[in-house]
Amino acid sequence: MKALVLSGGKGTRLRPITHTSAKQLVPVANKPILFYGLEAISRSGIKDVGIIVGETKNEIKAAVGNGSKFGIKVTYIEQEAPLGLAHAVKISRDFMKNDEFVMYLGDNLIRDGIKTFVDEFKKKKPNAQILLAKVPNPQQFGVAELKGDRVMRLVEKPKQPKSDLALVGVYMFDKNIFEAVNNIKPSWRNELEITDAIQYMVTKKFVVTPHIITGWWKDTGKLEDMLEANRIILDTLKSENKGTIKDSEIDEKVVIQKGAQINNSTVRGPVIIGENCKILNSYIGPFTSVYFNTIIENSEIEHSIVLENSKVSDVKRITDSLIGQNVEVLKSGKKPHAFRIMVGDSSRVEIV
Ligand code: DAU
Repeated sequence: MKALVLSGGKGTRLRPITHTSAKQLVPVANKPILFYGLEAISRSGIKDVGIIVGETKNEIKAAVGNGSKFGIKVTYIEQEAPLGLAHAVKISRDFMKNDEFVMYLGDNLIRDGIKTFVDEFKKKKPNAQILLAKVPNPQQFGVAELKGDRVMRLVEKPKQPKSDLALVGVYMFDKNIFEAVNNIKPSWRNELEITDAIQYMVTKKFVVTPHIITGWWKDTGKLEDMLEANRIILDTLKSENKGTIKDSEIDEKVVIQKGAQINNSTVRGPVIIGENCKILNSYIGPFTSVYFNTIIENSEIEHSIVLENSKVSDVKRITDSLIGQNVEVLKSGKKPHAFRIMVGDSSRVEIV
């Protein structure tokens, strides 16, 4: 069995963070989201992995390499434009040959991994297996209608969903999916939808089995989802210190990575402080991840993600925030007393 990981596309919902960089590489608890998926695939026993890449291919290739650090062998498959999940399947034909495969959306996180589903698929041998999860906002997902154990209908982002069962971004297929992706038309958003391809299989009486998952799952497309994913993963970390701590109070569940310095500060976990960060005279509150080479001084921050090479200085309190790479958030002594802001396109700033 092989795997197809989708890491192309545009990260419109996480803009401006993903204006220029891949949304699948935004870190959750200081690890790119994509890496959780690759690790889960490797743990399920699959070693031959095709990764769909688009505009951000150089970045993805630099981060993942040939896959050896995950114990897998990676083949990159270039998609000329984000023409849909089913289009990604279509262009993977040569790589897949006639093998069965698991398709994994590179921005999805499934806490319990995928081994049980892969094993179930191998044992029962349906033509397709889909994972479903109950969600409060089904109109933002592909939605399934079931009758008992049978899939009746699948609709992509319906305005009036008939159920609260969302399609999770992990699917298992045999070679018959290629007939389906070659026989569907682009949707209203001009994409070849995988949901329509699976609906084609249902209509043509292929065996499509649903599996409702109860464990935690997130599509990390939006800020709130990123923060929630960050919260849940941070909560599973065990304390570790590879940096230097001076005159500081460090709580439970705090991971301090190599070369980080914590001086005269309070860190209340779960928190992760990345490599070569400096935390000076500051308070880092629960559920905060600070990626690498970032400085936080004379400030308070909690429930936030700060990316690399940034600086937060003399800021009273930041919460529920995502701060990008190479960003400065500073208090200024200049007169007049006013906010001076340079924010990118599609940003959001809340001030008090
Ligand atoms: O997360 C689950 C949802 O994923 C399902 O419930 C939906 O049925 C399914 O269509 C999909 O919806 P999204 O609209 O959230 O998909 P998104 O455009 O975010 O793409 C998912 C991943 O696939 C993302 O990592 C980008 C990548 N991608 C996307 C497209 C459209 C590609 O590599 N190529 C593409 O052409």
